Amino acid sequence: MGIVLGIESSCDETAAALVTTDRRIIAQRIASQDEAHAPYGGVVPEIAARAHAEKLAPMIAEVMAEGGLELHELDAIAATAGPGLIGGVMVGLVSAKALAMASGVPLIAVNHLEGHALSPRLADAELQFPYALLLASGGHCQILQVNGVGEYRRLATTIDDALGEAFDKTAKILGLGYPGGPAVERLALEGDARAVPLPRPLVGSGEPHFSFAGLKSAVMRAKDSGLHRDADIAASFQQAAIDCVLDRLRVSLDAADTLPSLVVAGGVAANSAIRSALEQFAEARTMRFAAPPLSLCTDNAAMIAWAGAERLATGQNDPLDFVARPRWPLDPDAEPVRGAGAKA
Ligand code: KG4
Ligand code: ZN
Repeated sequence: MGIVLGIESSCDETAAALVTTDRRIIAQRIASQDEAHAPYGGVVPEIAARAHAEKLAPMIAEVMAEGGLELHELDAIAATAGPGLIGGVMVGLVSAKALAMASGVPLIAVNHLEGHALSPRLADAELQFPYALLLASGGHCQILQVNGVGEYRRLATTIDDALGEAFDKTAKILGLGYPGGPAVERLALEGDARAVPLPRPLVGSGEPHFSFAGLKSAVMRAKDSGLHRDADIAASFQQAAIDCVLDRLRVSLDAADTLPSLVVAGGVAANSAIRSALEQFAEARTMRFAAPPLSLCTDNAAMIAWAGAERLATGQNDPLDFVARPRWPLDPDAEPVRGAGAKA
């Protein structure tokens, strides 16, 4: 059994956690910066980097104290090394490098997306490779075939906005504040999902990719028209998003190898309406469905420590001069998709 310290600082959550190779979370801390960014309706990179720098060191000291561990007792120190806001990533990675250098413990530079992609295996010891993964967060929206640690085949990505971004923009249009996903989900509970006619971009097309920009514009027009209740707009938006996700999954999975399991990860996986739609979709295709608990869906350090543990088990670690990467696709061989602003 090994113990890995995980560090996450790629967006607006500062987090540290201790996780064992046999899936036990010994200690974890997370500090959200929602309040600092709320006045701006989105994450401000400079504010984020400064907050990470202030909070991270005491947080690491706290999890080590709670675990009753000295640095040299760790088997690896894993930190998000990208993709993400580069100032924040550097704060976490430099801290990990310093601790690794001082203690002689190996450094593992973790791809944040790999943290999300492997997080369901931390919660579920039965989940075996390969599996189909919907990875949907504020910055990413992809369908991947996960064949093993470090082995990803991208089946679909977004040609414009990510799904979480579409939730955040809808929240902004409806005046619900940031982060928008949970607020839209709450308001949708009080609305009628059939009340507002909204488009399902790319549904019915043979290509597997996502597009949410047209949906966002339609939400804006629906709001501006003054004809609809906000709750009906939220519910109709959420239903349109679900319809898009299921259709895109169908196209992607029909073109992929037969996969025994469907897994959802990333912040949007916290949405219960989306989770239950995916569960039914998986059941209809006789696929096993897995979703991590909510605390492992949004950004956290346990998933980074776990990705480190998975890499440690395959005998991998990284040099202390590993350079932070603002962009770092999981499948480097994936073709770029049409459209400006395409996400990796
Ligand atoms: O994975 P994450 O914490 O950070 C990124 O790596 O982006 O994901 C955050 C995203 C935000 O866009 C947020 O609005 C969305 O996940 N999100 C949700 C819900 N909870 C978080 N979207 C829909 N419904 C939710 N309940
Ligand atoms: Zn994330």
